[in-house]
Amino acid sequence: KQVAILPVPFDWGASRRGAAGGPQAVILAGLEQKLQQLGLNYSLHREFHLQDPPADRRSSKRMKHWGRVHDMSLAVSGEIARLVSCGYFPLTLGGDHSIAMGTIAGLTEHKQRLGVIWIDAHADLNTPRTSPSGNLHGMSLAAGLGHGDSRFTRLRGFSPKLQPGRIVLVGARQLDEGEKQLIRTLGVTCFTMQDIDRLGMARVMEQTIRIASNGSDGIHVSFDIDCIDPGEAPGTGTPVRGGLSYREAHLAMEMLAETGAVTSADMVEVNPLLDPSSGTARLAVELIGSLLGERIL
Ligand code: ARG
Ligand code: MN
Ligand code: MN
Ligand code: MN
Repeated sequence: KQVAILPVPFDWGASRRGAAGGPQAVILAGLEQKLQQLGLNYSLHREFHLQDPPADRRSSKRMKHWGRVHDMSLAVSGEIARLVSCGYFPLTLGGDHSIAMGTIAGLTEHKQRLGVIWIDAHADLNTPRTSPSGNLHGMSLAAGLGHGDSRFTRLRGFSPKLQPGRIVLVGARQLDEGEKQLIRTLGVTCFTMQDIDRLGMARVMEQTIRIASNGSDGIHVSFDIDCIDPGEAPGTGTPVRGGLSYREAHLAMEMLAETGAVTSADMVEVNPLLDPSSGTARLAVELIGSLLGERIL
């Protein structure tokens, strides 16, 4: 496995600044040492930077800073498409979760039957019509499924990019009305925190993996650090009480690694401004380690 680390220091998809410092925080917390320990070949794409015109006024109440988010997602999608065609495992470091519009668009250019496991306190299934905030990081999964503004759904010229039957949400506990409706009408699978409490993480992940890999040509893990309980991961912009425990999160990542079917991942919403101790970034590094095959014994 050849891992390509793609840092995307971008936070215009969220209402709080700071997630743009996520990639650097995760790298400083020891990401490269972790990959070296695991004996993985990797390359760090330092040269990836985003033009961020200071006077970009393309923004509306229902889609804040859509101009910047659009330019970023197009740039990210091009880079991801190139990495996939060269056979890399793209590991994208956010940035807020709007960056997943770029990763999904790039991945699905080559993989038309991509399974996506969205581990998050939220569903990110809003559209400009349903979003209570207008923040694009709450709309990224919807865009991949073909719902929302065509500038995002038709990124790289095709839509929908994903099939609802291969999408699984894990860890959800804060959903807006429109998101609940979209989950029901599309038939997306959603394992909420209540499901995890009742069934246990192991059974939830067995089912998750079965659904996401059914007939798929790869699995993308989009990991929003706010899935973890804020007691463990305070460094994130939209924390929600009652999240995954440290052990549950590692178990999920270990089970995903065991499948050997994961072909790409995002690690997003790490906001170092909100966690000066940098424990959240260290946790992100450990979880990436588990996802890439680290074992206790
Ligand atoms: N559902 C809320 C919204 O649309 C919160 C989204 C939070 N998303 C995230 N990627 N942290 O604004
Ligand atoms: Mn543009
Ligand atoms: Mn998210
Ligand atoms: Mn979230």
